[in-house]
Amino acid sequence: MENKELVKIALKYREKAYAPYSNFKVGAAVLFDSGKVYGGCNIENASFGATNCAERTAIFSGIAEGETKINAIAVVGSLEENTYPCGICRQVISEFGGSEIKVILAKGEDDFIVTNMGEILPGAFTKEDLDKNNR
Ligand code: THU
Repeated sequence: MENKELVKIALKYREKAYAPYSNFKVGAAVLFDSGKVYGGCNIENASFGATNCAERTAIFSGIAEGETKINAIAVVGSLEENTYPCGICRQVISEFGGSEIKVILAKGEDDFIVTNMGEILPGAFTKEDLDKNNR
């Protein structure tokens, strides 16, 4: 799948955002190794801490359908500058494919940069850290 196609899906899901508190809409589209794409938006809550980010909404939808490995994720938040995934989302993205996962940060369907998880979460804590010791 082309980067632009994934960005277009993220933009579509951005419109579904439930963000009455921050008014900051975010959309994400996750391409799994199966070839299927799952979209998500941020879903806020009156109890602010219960808010779920767009990236995790999309990832959890895919995992709940039996997906196991992420190939790429596109994220659109601000349309003025690229929005990077928050720290918690970086950790969750990393869980399902590690440093190789392609990360597309978009401001519009023809305006995006491409990076990867190794770049934006160096030294990620992984299940190998748990397997190696201390258990
Ligand atoms: N948000 C996301 O959906 N993804 C991110 O990676 C950054 C933050 C959402 C959460 C909240 O609804 C709003 O943006 C402001 O933080």
